[in-house]
Amino acid sequence: MNMMMKKLSSKLSILLFLLLPTFALASGGGVHLDSAPIDLSDKESLKNGAKIFMNYCLSCHSARFMRYKRMADDLGMEESEVLENLVFTGAKIHDTMEIAMPADQATQWFGTAPPDLSVISRARGVDWLYTYLRGFYVDESRPMGVNNIVFKDVGMPHVLEGLQGKQYLKEEKVNMAYGGEKTMESLVVDGSGSMTPAEYDKAVTDLVNFLAYVGEPIKAYRLTLGWYVLGFLLILLIPAYRLKKEYWKDVH
Ligand code: HEC
Repeated sequence: MNMMMKKLSSKLSILLFLLLPTFALASGGGVHLDSAPIDLSDKESLKNGAKIFMNYCLSCHSARFMRYKRMADDLGMEESEVLENLVFTGAKIHDTMEIAMPADQATQWFGTAPPDLSVISRARGVDWLYTYLRGFYVDESRPMGVNNIVFKDVGMPHVLEGLQGKQYLKEEKVNMAYGGEKTMESLVVDGSGSMTPAEYDKAVTDLVNFLAYVGEPIKAYRLTLGWYVLGFLLILLIPAYRLKKEYWKDVH
């Protein structure tokens, strides 16, 4: 009995040891990320996200792996609709999404060249993007006048400020139930933007949805295909079951 307990506890400690890195990671997380309520099958959301991306992001960031033509096909848009409403760089329908500004100039202006955003949704994750784009706050000590809760000392200006308004980081000291004090941080908008906080969250959701699509254009199709495959297998089950009954009829 004692022997077994000993064995068990040594096994348990090996297990705990293996799990250790996960715990350590989880506790060192830092800022809480809000989960992005995106839906890759929502074409209207993707179209709106594309519009916001072309208007507010493509001036600095390219999406070099994506062609306008492919986006038009995937989102069910006419080529003319894309060229008239979404292309501001003089690009043609078969071109990839490039910026007009040369990279070395960008580096001069911002200190860092704005990275290509083709696979940013996979590099950072959609929740990070959702939190980042809603996480700019006024910080006069920074060159762009803003800082970000998930990207400390970011070099990017808050390009969506006209929509969201100015946001401030409020620090509040609260007394903890078990004694001691803790500083709580919260973001507060001043209401000067053209959107309400709910509308702004929706706009950012659409934008992140679009970036998720650009990062993996085939994903929505893959998800649909999965359902077709399951449906096919389900239908196949009927003849398979009948066949089985037929074969076993004589055996019983
Ligand atoms: C005026 C130019 C400019 C515009 C417009 C702009 N950005 Fe940026 N962005 C930058 C710069 C510069 C950086 C690099 C910041 C740094 O490294 O400190 C950056 C960084 C980022 C990053 C972080 C990349 C990383 O390192 O992981 C994301 C994500 C991003 N931008 C998304 C967007 C989106 C989405 C839009 C449109 C709403 C946008 N940006 C519009 C200049 C811009």
